[in-house]
Amino acid sequence: MAIVCKSAAEIERMRQSGRIVRQVLDHVRSLVKPGVTTMDLERAAERKISELGAKPAFKGYYDYPCVLCTSVNDEIVHGIPSEKRTLKAGDIVSIDCGVVLDGYYGDAAITVPVGEKVDPELQKLLKVTEESLYRGIDQARVGNSIGDVGAAVQEHVEAAGFSVVREFVGHGIGTRLHEEPQIPNFGSRGHGAKLREGMVLAIEPMVNSGRPDAKVLGDKWTAVTVDGSFSAHFEHCVAVTKDGPVILTQ
Ligand code: MF3
Ligand code: CO
Repeated sequence: MAIVCKSAAEIERMRQSGRIVRQVLDHVRSLVKPGVTTMDLERAAERKISELGAKPAFKGYYDYPCVLCTSVNDEIVHGIPSEKRTLKAGDIVSIDCGVVLDGYYGDAAITVPVGEKVDPELQKLLKVTEESLYRGIDQARVGNSIGDVGAAVQEHVEAAGFSVVREFVGHGIGTRLHEEPQIPNFGSRGHGAKLREGMVLAIEPMVNSGRPDAKVLGDKWTAVTVDGSFSAHFEHCVAVTKDGPVILTQ
C-alpha cells in the first residue's frame, strides 16, 4: 500500500476524531491518582468515547482487548488495563487512545505522573519525551523527509542522556489506524520518504531512561524495557500542509 494523502476535507474530519481522542485523554488524566487501577481508567475512557459518539480504535485490533493502552513505569507501550494494576504515588503511566469517527482515525498518547511527588529524573524523562515529540512535529513539512522527523526526535532525546526505542515506530493514519509510512523515532536527515502535502502522521516517541532495548511479555502485548528502566510515550497526529505542520489531536 502506498502512502495516502488526504484532502483538506478529510483532514477536517480527522481533526474531529483527534479532538475526541484529546477529550478522552484529558478526562482520563484527571482521574489518575494513587489507588486507581488501570481498569478504572479503561472504563472511564470507554464511557467517554461512546458519550462523544465515536468508536474505540484499539479494541479488537489484532484482538487487543481494551480501548486504552496503559503502560506503567518500565512498560513502554501496549500495557493492558487490569483490575490488578493499582497506580501508586511516584509511578508514571502512559495512556494511549485511538478512536474512529465516520471512518477516520485519531490516535494520541500522554504520560502522566501519579501523585505529587515524582522523582525529578522521571519528571525530566516526561518533559524531554514531550519536547522530542514537538521537535519531530516541527519537521513535518512539505519537502522534508521521514528521516528528518526521526533525527530531530533522536537528537533531542540522546542529548538529554535518554534513549529512543527502535522496535516500535509511528505511522501514517487516516481511514486505517496504521497506514504507510512507518515513522521511526531515529534516523538521518534527508533520508526516507519525502513528505508531501496531505500526509497525516502519527508521531510517537517512546523514550527509555536507560538502554533502548525492548521486549514483549508473555501476554503477547506489553512491551517493557529490557534493563528495567522507565519509559515515556507521547503521541500526536499531524497533518503535513503547505502552511506547515497542523496538530489534529489538539
Ligand atoms: N497507538 C498505538 C499505535 O499507534 C497503539 C495501537 S496498538 C493496539 O500503534 F493494538 F492496541 F491497537
Ligand atoms: Co499510534
